[in-house]
Amino acid sequence: MGRKRLLSITLDHIKASQMPHPVPFVDFPAQYKEEKSEIAEIVDRVFSRGEFIGGTEVESLEKDLAAYLGVRDVIALNSGTDALILAMAGLGIGAGDEVITPPNSFVASTAAIVHLGAQPVFADVGDDQNIDVADIRRKITPRTKAIMPVHLTGRMCRMDEIMALAREFNLKVIEDAAQSIGSRYRGRLSGTIGDAGCFSCHPLKNLNAAGDSGFVSTNDPALASWIRLARNHGLKDRNTVVRFGFVSRMDALQAAILRMRLSKLDAVIERRRQNAAIYREHIKTNHVQVPVCEKDEFNSFHLFVIQADRRDELQRHLGEHGIGSSIHYPIPIHLQPAATGLGHGPGSLPVSERQSGRILSLPIHQFASGRQIEGVARTINEFFGA
Ligand SMILES: Cc1ncc(COP(=O)(O)O)c(C=O)c1O
Repeated sequence: MGRKRLLSITLDHIKASQMPHPVPFVDFPAQYKEEKSEIAEIVDRVFSRGEFIGGTEVESLEKDLAAYLGVRDVIALNSGTDALILAMAGLGIGAGDEVITPPNSFVASTAAIVHLGAQPVFADVGDDQNIDVADIRRKITPRTKAIMPVHLTGRMCRMDEIMALAREFNLKVIEDAAQSIGSRYRGRLSGTIGDAGCFSCHPLKNLNAAGDSGFVSTNDPALASWIRLARNHGLKDRNTVVRFGFVSRMDALQAAILRMRLSKLDAVIERRRQNAAIYREHIKTNHVQVPVCEKDEFNSFHLFVIQADRRDELQRHLGEHGIGSSIHYPIPIHLQPAATGLGHGPGSLPVSERQSGRILSLPIHQFASGRQIEGVARTINEFFGA
């Protein structure tokens, strides 16, 4: 082989080793590969028992989750959305009440308030993308009944300040913990601080089912009983309807999968935190702001969201290099067509609006290797010429 050809092969090799492999935003096939035999065993167990909705698997999951969170009750449900609706309904929130919540969440948090006939009142967010406590205070009126903080991306809101405000104005606190299982603020787990914690186990979440499911956590026994009845048509027993309810129960298959995955959750979070640390070390451009980790917080990094100049161009550039990314969320809820009746226009919640044009969620999942994450960081640096 000539020297020239050898040199060119070597250079190609060096280039290839520096190129990030394709990095999908999520990697369900990798998760399935890892769990194939466990899933098969679960399917066999559930089908053999013939108990498909509620029952043994669901009760065991509720116990395991309550132990993990250190709460009195967990009520397994069909989704995080119904967790929010039922938690608020059980706390007596309804027509004429105002609930303060951020506009940069997934639409479900606001939709849940609307479905109860209550009024969502938006407080803007801070640089950390979480609800701004000073703005909550400004938005409190005599009709305010509750605060719904959303621990967006796995980063927790300033719960001490929110709870103090709630005590001062006698408000309920419903934590939207859909994105934050396992996150802590001053040592306390998300979803265990307010009157209720509402979790989603949507396939994209850190604790993910193979379909829709979610749950409520609470230390309030009356609320727990209310939700238990409500999730199953208000049936006290097979034939007695105490109150008209809903069909918001969790399937046994989902519960069994979640139980298996709960045992791995802390390891999953640890891998995500390692990937976040690599991003934080390797992204080296002033055009990108990476999420900081303050000393009071333990972030489970459901998402790793940067705030970047030329966000759309950057996202295209990443895509061209085989790197998946996403935007959570490109249109703040108050500017959605569905929110026209809520009376907000552009400029009314400026921080959320500004961020919606800059945020970009990078791959952070547990199956992405450190080298892949470094490759993503390098691709970002190169884009900005850093
Ligand atoms: C912040 C937030 N709230 C609520 C929900 C609703 O959860 P689900 O999709 O399980 O109904 C989600 C999840 O998608 C979410 O991310």
